[in-house]
Amino acid sequence: MRYPVAAPDLSGNELEYVTECLSSSWISSNGRFIEEFENSVAEFVGTRFAVATCNGTAALHIAQLAVGLKPGDEVIVPTLTYVATANAVTYCGARPVFADVDPRTWNLDPASVRRLITPRTRGIVPVHLYGLPCDLEPILETARTHGLWVVEDAAEALGATYQNRFVGSFGEAAVFSFFGNKIVTTGEGGMVVTNAPDLAERLRLLRGQGMDPKRRYWHPLIGYNYRMTNIAAALGVAQMERVGDLLAARQRVAAWYQEELADCEEIGLQAVTPPAVSVHWMVGVVLGSPLARDAVMAELAAAGIETRPFFYPVHHFPMYAGCRTDQGCPMATDLAYRGICLPTAAYLQRKDVAFIAQTLRRAVAKQPRLHRPAVHHPEVTPCPS
Ligand SMILES: Cc1ncc(COP(=O)(O)O)c(C=O)c1O
Repeated sequence: MRYPVAAPDLSGNELEYVTECLSSSWISSNGRFIEEFENSVAEFVGTRFAVATCNGTAALHIAQLAVGLKPGDEVIVPTLTYVATANAVTYCGARPVFADVDPRTWNLDPASVRRLITPRTRGIVPVHLYGLPCDLEPILETARTHGLWVVEDAAEALGATYQNRFVGSFGEAAVFSFFGNKIVTTGEGGMVVTNAPDLAERLRLLRGQGMDPKRRYWHPLIGYNYRMTNIAAALGVAQMERVGDLLAARQRVAAWYQEELADCEEIGLQAVTPPAVSVHWMVGVVLGSPLARDAVMAELAAAGIETRPFFYPVHHFPMYAGCRTDQGCPMATDLAYRGICLPTAAYLQRKDVAFIAQTLRRAVAKQPRLHRPAVHHPEVTPCPS
């Protein structure tokens, strides 16, 4: 048996809807599924508008253009994130500034954000890493105090809640990804959600090559071709029909991992602290040292268990090496080189998770004890749907 780290669940109406696109020849960015998909996500998240894009990175790009990001501006992002969070800032000619993370939740540390604010700061992009909402309240408070916008990078967190509200509705806008490894997938795809009508209008313009919706082939600004295809949206509509089941499967798998690993002091889990409820997009663990991490990954691979390392701190990449950080972001740097993500997908049964967890524990037990990670064994909170 091989255990991929992620696998889509396409067992609903996906095939039927995609077939409808092919047989009707609505295969580009017109067709009924795009609006249906946008409406289903907006309704689910609780925002007034949703604008589908070809991927989550494009969504992050136009979201920040739409809120007015300009060359020379600064945007605070966590350094422990997928590189797209920072790249989207750079696409706008602005500069990402890298904040550190909380060692327990692995998410943006509000105190670190506060330390990085300058007169050039325009916005904050909090990331809900691995499906866990970050501590939004103090971040939103800082944004209010300093007149900054907030664009949530909720790429990994559709369905997660904070203070009983779905992430995606806290800032000026928020972004989701529907890449093949996400809980709800369209293969490649993304979306921006917002409550502001003017932002929604601007997002549609930017997505559609800047073409005036009332005057065909009139382009009042430089836009992008960031449209989603009807085929991708067809997948999305079918996925959203089962979003409750897809989220519940993730909760089950995460709860099994927590049961299996709860008493292992050498394996640190992501702390889910109220009022955040995670969707557990990926179950991550932090091990004792980078060397232990690499050895454990090799051992799991030999047993047919695919894993992936945590994201590198983005400020370690050559193109971001000169950027401002919060004192080198020691917490994020420590976590990044010790963490791995375990297979997390609906295909996993109880016995699969037990096998993966036992293999992990055996591999960890073989490693020299360099130092122990802080151990967090959070309760799994039930699926919010
Ligand atoms: C935190 C985060 N932001 C942005 C993205 C970009 O999304 P996409 O891959 O759809 O462009 C991802 C993708 O996985 C992500 O994990």
